[in-house]
Amino acid sequence: MGSRPTWRDRSQRTDSRVFLRFGLPMQAGPILGWKGKRRYSVMDGTHLRAVDVATDLDRLLDSTDETLVVASNRQPYRHSYGEDGAVSVDRPTGGLTAGIDEVMRRLGGTWIAWGDGDADEDVVDEDGRVTVPPDEAAYELQRLWLSDAEVEEYYYRSSNQVLWPICHAALGTVEPCGDAWERYRQVNDQFARAVAAEATDGALVWLQDYHLSLTPRIVRERASGDPFLAHSWHIPWPSWDTFRACPHREEIVRGLLGNDLLGFHVPRYCRNFMNSAAAALPDVEVDREAGRIHYHGGTTAVRAFPMGVPAARIEDDAAGMEAAGFREAFTASKGIADGTTIAIGVDRLDYTKGIPERLAALEYLFETRPHLRGEVTYVQVGSESRSWIGAYAQYQERVEERVAAINDRFGTDSWQPVVYTTDHLSNEALAGLYRAADLAIVSPIRDGMNLVAQEYVAAQAGEDTGVLVLSDQAGVHDELGQWTVSVRPHDTTGFADAIEAALTMPTEERRWRCDALREYVFDNDVDAWLRDVIATVQTLRDGEVTPTNARH
Ligand code: G6P
Repeated sequence: MGSRPTWRDRSQRTDSRVFLRFGLPMQAGPILGWKGKRRYSVMDGTHLRAVDVATDLDRLLDSTDETLVVASNRQPYRHSYGEDGAVSVDRPTGGLTAGIDEVMRRLGGTWIAWGDGDADEDVVDEDGRVTVPPDEAAYELQRLWLSDAEVEEYYYRSSNQVLWPICHAALGTVEPCGDAWERYRQVNDQFARAVAAEATDGALVWLQDYHLSLTPRIVRERASGDPFLAHSWHIPWPSWDTFRACPHREEIVRGLLGNDLLGFHVPRYCRNFMNSAAAALPDVEVDREAGRIHYHGGTTAVRAFPMGVPAARIEDDAAGMEAAGFREAFTASKGIADGTTIAIGVDRLDYTKGIPERLAALEYLFETRPHLRGEVTYVQVGSESRSWIGAYAQYQERVEERVAAINDRFGTDSWQPVVYTTDHLSNEALAGLYRAADLAIVSPIRDGMNLVAQEYVAAQAGEDTGVLVLSDQAGVHDELGQWTVSVRPHDTTGFADAIEAALTMPTEERRWRCDALREYVFDNDVDAWLRDVIATVQTLRDGEVTPTNARH
């Protein structure tokens, strides 16, 4: 490996020690401290949130290292054939791949994911690898191929009709799992084999999300070296009372306890997971104070890492020419008159996002406050998602019907209450819309984190700042809720009151709330998230956990 530093070498550096010395005493309750002018906070045993850590990301990750291995179901870039036969590259919807792509572009390494594009196989080398991003060549994307049956049973059925609804506490939406679980096991095994082949001694393996819950334990058993296994779970972890509805609950918890580090977005999910582990497995030892679970000779640290967004880039995008041009063209083409107050919602078309409930609140608002008719337009940007699943296809129809009903009821020749688009928007276009919007309404029924709320805040530079209306059911509300106008998505009348409050908020209050939100979102951007994860890996490697090869 030449003189290139390994993860283990890096963990000896003083950079990470700063974090260890000032960040890691795991105590209960919020503690704030100061090191010179630098603030750190330890919220509880599972939540270490470093604010302005004395660690510079570039120094921490000072060279591209082939020993970083990321695995996720969804790939960051998809190659497809256009109608003219030319290959184009697109990026899937959802904040997860965008966030990790930022990380990979900085670190390099290998990202293993399902190749689902119709041109994917034609652009890879004989090992299924292609260098991405297309214009930057920063890291390797290793594609895995899934058969139609695997896609149906592992992705649609097991992942998205069992695990997804259970973790979002939508038990009425869970479908019987049947034989599909066997295919989930097989695909997790396929991912594990690909990961194990890359996972040399000292490698950092970083697994993503609920599609790969069994993979860590298999990698642990298969890898010839001693990799460090970290896993980020990007959706909620529900209470045990909900999770116990999962037909494969013990196996999933056992699988995840193959990790050295298991990350959730907020401490609540960490506590839920530790309670689930204690209840699901009789021979597990859970240290809730320290955020550690001991199981069969191994230790898994459970931590909260609230994910952030590339705030500076979004702010730049929002201020750019392309954003301004799109904003003008969009409002003109949708007939939104100058001076109209714009509210915006941006969501994957998923039943957890609360769009019909939001539309019900808007309908009630226009019904009970007639003076707002003609004054306010709500723009809903929706991206199609998982339409093969009945619950999603029906949801999309329901959203369209509600939009049409509101427009029929209140629309006039010169004003449309709701503008709905499913067009794919570039980063710049979206940033332009965020900037144009006087308020954003982010009102999921349940959401692991929600990055849209943070993207909106990042785009609010300048004097005329917007207001964020945010559901208290989103993970990000745990972080931002003190400065937002908070709503309970099913409380239609309270929701309408909240929108009205946002619309009439005095300028000064808009400003201080937005300033506080922006400070948080910029301090806790995607780089800070990465820094927290990597620094925690380093301190754990430095001896915080039992050697992982004693695990099985
Ligand atoms: C959520 C999940 C991600 C997923 C994304 C898009 O954000 O946490 O793992 O990639 O939704 O969903 P999809 O099924 O299209 O990958």
